[in-house]
Amino acid sequence: MQTSDTVSLAQAGAIALIRIDNPPVNAAGYSVRAGIVAALDWLADHPEVKAAALFAAGRTFIAGADIREFGKPPQDPWLPEVCNRIEACETPIVCILHGTTLGGGLEVALSAHARIAMPGTKVGLPEVHLGILPGAGGTQRTPRLTGQAFAVEAIVSGRHIPADEALSVGLIDALTDAPDPESAARQAAQAVVDCTLATRRTGELQVSPDPDALAAARSQTRAKHPHLFSPLKCIDAVAASTLPLPEGLARERVLFTECLNSPQRAGLIHAFFAERATAKVPEAAATPRAFQHVGVIGAGTMGSGIATACLLAGLNVTLTDQTDTALQAAQSRISDNLAGAVKRGKLSPEARDAALQAFTTTDDLTTLADCDLIIEAAFEDMDVKAQIFRQLDQIAKPGAVLATNTSYLDVNAIARQSARRGDVLGLHFFSPAHIMRLLEVVVADATTPEVTATGFALAKKLRKIAVRSGVCDGFIGNRILMTTRREAEYMMLDGATPQQIDDALEAAGWALGPFRTSDLAGLDIAWAQRQRRAATRPADERYVEVPDRLCEAGHVGRKAGAGYYLADGAPNPAVATALEAERQAKGITLRDFDAKDIVTRYLTAMIMEAASIVEEGIALRPIDVDVVLLFGYGFPRHLGGPLHQADQIGAQTLVDRLTTYAQEDAQFWRIPQILCDMAQTNTSFADRNG
Ligand code: 3HC
Repeated sequence: MQTSDTVSLAQAGAIALIRIDNPPVNAAGYSVRAGIVAALDWLADHPEVKAAALFAAGRTFIAGADIREFGKPPQDPWLPEVCNRIEACETPIVCILHGTTLGGGLEVALSAHARIAMPGTKVGLPEVHLGILPGAGGTQRTPRLTGQAFAVEAIVSGRHIPADEALSVGLIDALTDAPDPESAARQAAQAVVDCTLATRRTGELQVSPDPDALAAARSQTRAKHPHLFSPLKCIDAVAASTLPLPEGLARERVLFTECLNSPQRAGLIHAFFAERATAKVPEAAATPRAFQHVGVIGAGTMGSGIATACLLAGLNVTLTDQTDTALQAAQSRISDNLAGAVKRGKLSPEARDAALQAFTTTDDLTTLADCDLIIEAAFEDMDVKAQIFRQLDQIAKPGAVLATNTSYLDVNAIARQSARRGDVLGLHFFSPAHIMRLLEVVVADATTPEVTATGFALAKKLRKIAVRSGVCDGFIGNRILMTTRREAEYMMLDGATPQQIDDALEAAGWALGPFRTSDLAGLDIAWAQRQRRAATRPADERYVEVPDRLCEAGHVGRKAGAGYYLADGAPNPAVATALEAERQAKGITLRDFDAKDIVTRYLTAMIMEAASIVEEGIALRPIDVDVVLLFGYGFPRHLGGPLHQADQIGAQTLVDRLTTYAQEDAQFWRIPQILCDMAQTNTSFADRNG
């Protein structure tokens, strides 16, 4: 019988099987919670049932609370109550775990009287990644089974724990060899009736205090996640597990509510859904073209990274360049990358050997005739790329997808070199391409839906997050970077040091400030780009010359041993000299910037450009911009992305702020119409995410 839309119960003599079926991941939403409680009520009325087993249909046991319900008014029964009811149930209940039994799913299982896992199951309490803590008894029942040291590590890391490890630490009681969760449920319930499977209440176990483990966790967490709110709260909650269960649960509830109400929770959950939303593009309905053999043109850092990423995904790769020296260097870089993957446990030695077998190099472009997908990663120069695309027209087989990995250049202009413009798209990888998860799929005017869909299919194969971008200078990410870099340079010229700016942003959670990022990436890339723009740069645009002076002196960043900083991280004195000269020549009146001003101005510049990108339709939705910044530019995940932040600030406040800034420099500070419209209609970017 159905006990709710998503839960059913079947009695077979002395056992009952409770089945959850709430695709795609059996999240413990209202209907699941209500269905479990109704099943418990039924058990209370049926004393002839001596054991019950709870299992789930589909790809996983419950993968957590239903995250979509957070921030909305709670609906009884709450998950903590459901867990308490399971634990208190007079009829022993066994949980059968499979797939990814996470968060509230594991908490349901911990409150059952025994836990059996299918092979390959992973369990975990990943709530910390959503800015919360396990709030349905996970911080109290886990230490009762494993001790505080393991519990605190598992909860603060939020990692997925393989079934074998879960068994060895006592989180689960046994592995089953039953063919499916339903058979496992039947066997386990019968085993309880037959007294061959022991049951007990987790909440009745005692926890020994482990103050050393908690102190170590606190100091590690403060050092590793200084900006984050919930990890320390997780530790506080585990510390309460030595209290009697009701008191520990009450403490957990208070801490959970603090996390739930924190803006970081909203930012992290926004990031969770954003990451999954970007694949939902109009072209998703088209059938991607098949690709197994990928050609990569250009054996530099980017080309080698792209080749590595494809090899790691099991694709065949032919890498081409003009010189043997370049190819040899790439070959050893790629072998090192693969060896690194083996060392990190990401690749087996056998898979590494297979990848090397699937890899060939050649200086003959015509060898790419067999490739299904060709990715040009040559020097960032329109003439070079145009020439390659003209050649590809003669070489590539019909139906091959032709991609350019450009960071800034006009993909429409590149496509026009080809007689098969529909086959051409941009695939903007981020360096190191085998590590960075972002891929901008740049759709040109003539790109066919199948070719765009192939870009997304490639990203999926490479386990990357693809974001669709229209064509403009710098696409989504680098266009915003150009604007924020300009604002950082203006602040520098007007009185802040690069170190002050970097430190302010890093203290706010950015992975790396803009000047340290420039040093890492190389100042010469932006230099070349500025030179390209020189002829069309508006006469009234403020231009900061310090970066040019550094490049002219060979201080192009870390690869040259000096950029804004020296090799040891100290500020490069050449910067102060160049700044002094430029300030004098331009008669700049210096001003004070504190860390708050710096972050506000930088973020506002970012929001201004991001809003224009949405307004122009370069990004499909605000959420796409957020994902680009989160996954490609070190934007702090707990802030959710620039346009999520824009919603927190409010459109009217942004319009007012931009109006004030525009009084200083009306050429740089613009008020995008979309922000004015949102201020007028009292709407948000979230309303435009669809
Ligand atoms: N609630 C609501 N929706 C969820 C969800 C959840 N807990 N977990 C996944 N989904 C949705 C996804 O948004 C996605 O929806 P879409 O198809 O509309 O985009 C769909 O389920 C499939 O998810 P994935 O694309 O991520 O599928 P994968 O197979 O790649 O991964 C997974 C599956 C490992 C379960 C992954 O989805 C995941 O990590 N989910 C979150 C798990 C989690 O954080 N659980 C804790 C929740 S908080 C909690 O339990 C609080 C409690 O302590 C009180």
